[in-house]
Amino acid sequence: MNFEYTEEQEMIRQSARDFAERELLPGVNERDANAEFPEEQVKKLTELGFMGMLTDVKYNGGGMDTVSYVLAMEEISKVDSAVGVMMSVNNSLVNWGLEEYGTEEQIEKYLKPLAGGEKIGAFLLSEPEAGSDATSQRTKADDKGDYYLLNGVKNWITNANCASVYLVIAQTHPEKKHKGINAFIVEKDWEGISLGPHEDKMGMRSSDTHSVMFTDVKVPKENRIGEDGFGFKFAMKTLDGGRLGIASQALGIASGAYERALQYSKERKAFGTEIANHQAIAFKLSDMAVKIENARNLCLKCAWLKDNGKPYGFASAMAKQYAADIAMEVTTEAVQILGGYGYVREYHVERLMREAKLTQIYEGTSEIQKIVISRTILAD
Ligand code: CAA
Repeated sequence: MNFEYTEEQEMIRQSARDFAERELLPGVNERDANAEFPEEQVKKLTELGFMGMLTDVKYNGGGMDTVSYVLAMEEISKVDSAVGVMMSVNNSLVNWGLEEYGTEEQIEKYLKPLAGGEKIGAFLLSEPEAGSDATSQRTKADDKGDYYLLNGVKNWITNANCASVYLVIAQTHPEKKHKGINAFIVEKDWEGISLGPHEDKMGMRSSDTHSVMFTDVKVPKENRIGEDGFGFKFAMKTLDGGRLGIASQALGIASGAYERALQYSKERKAFGTEIANHQAIAFKLSDMAVKIENARNLCLKCAWLKDNGKPYGFASAMAKQYAADIAMEVTTEAVQILGGYGYVREYHVERLMREAKLTQIYEGTSEIQKIVISRTILAD
């Protein structure tokens, strides 16, 4: 075993850290308060190649490994996880799915501009009545011969407005249940597509979240991904990687809050000494550090499995469940350590606490991850 990062991985981590400090930190609280889309920041992230970092260079991507992706996601999300989620969705849920299962034409037309940063993608699975219960898709894709007719509503879609390419999951053969579901590449400006208002969220307020409505949208046959009926498996396989992205995001949120609490506790004095010298605070910091180290190791192990062509769905469910849950715990403790300062916006940790909550919900709630984990261990 080798726990050391390669020179390249260290370089990528450092460049993500520098970018986050230089470009994301100024204005992050204001963007959050105003729910303002980080347009300039995403543009610069794209120029750095992070929006397509996992995709092969032959498809205009960065050709970086998954370990580097975990490191970059952690550094970006320490500072601004609204930008982190856009990066995760584009890399893991959109680009990866197209690279793995797209036809040559689909790769040429859609993946290359997505990985090269000319376009942004979104992944449309969740519906008003199909969140955790993802097989119960109500959005219909009726087979009309040489095209499909798409009708339905998708909810809580990250990148819905800034994306121009959608991967949409919809039901074609309801009688076949999940085996009748398909995945399609849909262009946002096609006729019949409309967006709901920007969601007024508790955290990650500047990330671009909307519902998307489809009314008689014509999708050419060649835009279906994989065989007829492959859509549910496509979504599940894609989410295996997506969950690692969100686990790394949760890790970043936790370590961002921890670093701020650590710094504060070495400066703030109470009862005649820095509060870090009080065991009540030192033990909190100790617990936070152990949890973060565990979460990082789960993420890196999952990344290593993926990079080495081994199954990683179980590992990504473990990483996401654990990292999201400890992100909530660590950020709550960080607010506690900062006390009154922790409760006001200026000190960032209250925002990180609000952001942590979403990591327990999207790309499969913590309870869904426990379903995946328990089914796997019980089947062994
Ligand atoms: N890889 C490949 N195939 C898989 C799979 C995986 N990881 N997981 C399940 N499958 C297959 C099963 O093998 C089964 O196939 P067969 O019928 O051929 O045997 C089929 O899919 C159905 O599986 P289940 O019987 O396990 O289905 P289920 O109804 O019990 O649901 C679930 C399983 C894990 C709970 C799933 O519904 C799930 O993951 N739900 C959560 C959905 C989710 O994560 N939503 C997030 C939305 S995306 C998002 O948030 C993006 C964003 O914008 C940030």
